Amino acid sequence: MATRIDVNLPGECAYSVRIGAGILASLGRNLRGMDRFAQVRDVLVITDDNVGPLYLGKVRASLADAGFKAADIAVPAGERSKSLDVAGEIWSAMAQMALGRDCLVVALGGGVVGDLAGFVASAYMRGVPVVHVPTTLLSMVDSSVGGKTAVDLPEGKNLVGTFHQPSFVCADTDVLDTLPEREWRCGCGEIAKSAVIDSDEFFFWLMDGAASLAARDAGVTAEAIARCVVFKAGVVAQDVTETAGVRECLNYGHTLGHAIEACTGYGAFSHGECVAEGMRFAARLAADAASGMDDGSLDAFAAAQDELLAALGLPKLAHGVDAGRLMDAMRRDKKARGGRLRFVLANDVARWEVVHVPDEVVARKLKEHLA
Ligand SMILES: NC(=O)c1ccc[n+]([C@@H]2O[C@H](COP(=O)([O-])OP(=O)(O)OC[C@H]3O[C@@H](n4cnc5c(N)ncnc54)[C@H](O)[C@@H]3O)[C@@H](O)[C@H]2O)c1
Repeated sequence: MATRIDVNLPGECAYSVRIGAGILASLGRNLRGMDRFAQVRDVLVITDDNVGPLYLGKVRASLADAGFKAADIAVPAGERSKSLDVAGEIWSAMAQMALGRDCLVVALGGGVVGDLAGFVASAYMRGVPVVHVPTTLLSMVDSSVGGKTAVDLPEGKNLVGTFHQPSFVCADTDVLDTLPEREWRCGCGEIAKSAVIDSDEFFFWLMDGAASLAARDAGVTAEAIARCVVFKAGVVAQDVTETAGVRECLNYGHTLGHAIEACTGYGAFSHGECVAEGMRFAARLAADAASGMDDGSLDAFAAAQDELLAALGLPKLAHGVDAGRLMDAMRRDKKARGGRLRFVLANDVARWEVVHVPDEVVARKLKEHLA
C-alpha cells in the first residue's frame, strides 16, 4: 500500500510524494497520468554509478512502458559530483541530445543526485521539470522535498543553488534494502532532527520505534518517512524560499554538524552522524543561550534527546577535531551573519529559536562538550 502526501506551497504548483514498497515499477504510469506530462516524450534520468546498476533498469522499463523515450547519465557517486563542472557536462549532453523545454529530468539517487539534477533542471532552458526518485533514507525524509538545489564550490558546500520544486516524488522503500548501514544511520539523524523540531507526538513515537527503525523494520521506516515528509512539507509551506525564518528550523544541529564535516573532509562521518552531534551540542548550548527555560528542564530535554540518538545508533561522535578548528569552520558557515555565530537552539521538543550566540560562549560550551 502506497501513501500519498500532497505538498501544497503558496505560489507553486502542488505536487505529491508517494511512499511505498515496489512503487518504482509504476513510476512511468504515474507520470503519464499527470496532466503536465501527458504529452512529454523525452526524459533524462540522472543517477550515480552506485545506484544506476541497481535501479536504472527498472526505472527505464517503467518509463518505456508508459511511452517515454528515456536517456540517462550516471555521475560518479559522492559529493564531488555536486559541482559546476559536472552540471556543465550534463547541460552540454542535454543540448547534444537536443532536449527541449518539454523534456523532463528524473533524479534517481540520494541527496547528491537530487541536488545536482534539481540544479541542472532549474537552469536548463530557464527551467524544465524535475521528478525525484530518492534512494537513500536521507533523501526520502528530507532532501527530495522542499525544492532546494545546489552545487558546491571549492570555497564551500551548497554555495550555488536555486529553489526548484519537484513535480512529483516517488519514494520506493524497497530500494533501501541495498543502502549501506552508514547511510541508514545518516537518514536516522535527519529523522531525529525532524521529530525533535516537530512535536511531542512525533518525538515519543520515534522513541518507541527507535530500535525498530535502527533495525530497518519496514513498517516503522515507511511511517517515519511519511511523518518527516508531512513535517517538512508543513515547514516549507510557511517559508518556501527561506526568507520568513521558519525554514531555518530544518538547520537544527547543522551549525556544528557542518563544521565537523568540513574539518573531517566530508566523508569520515556521515552527514546525519554530524547533525546528531550538532543536536547534542545545541541542546547544551541552549542552557546558556536560549530564553525562557530553567536548567533543570533543559538537562531533561538534552538527556531525552541523547537517549533517542543512541537508540537510533547515533552515539556521541569521537571526531577528534579541536574546538579552535570547529570555531573557525562555524564562522565560515552560511548561517553566520556579519561574522556572528547563529544557531538553531531547541530548549525542548518543538520549542526552537534562532539565536546569535557570542563567540566566547560557544567556545566555552564547545570545550566543555568536547572534554
Ligand atoms: N536539498 C536539500 O534540501 C538537502 C537536504 C539535506 C541534504 N542535502 C544534500 O544531500 C546530500 C547527501 O545526500 P545523501 O546522504 O543521500 O548522500 P548520497 O547521495 O551521496 O548517497 C550516499 C551513498 O549511497 C549510495 N546510494 C544511494 N542510494 C543507494 C541505494 N538505494 N543502495 C545502495 N547505495 C545507494 C550513493 O551512491 C552514495 O554512495 C548532500 O550533498 C547534502 O548537501 C540536500
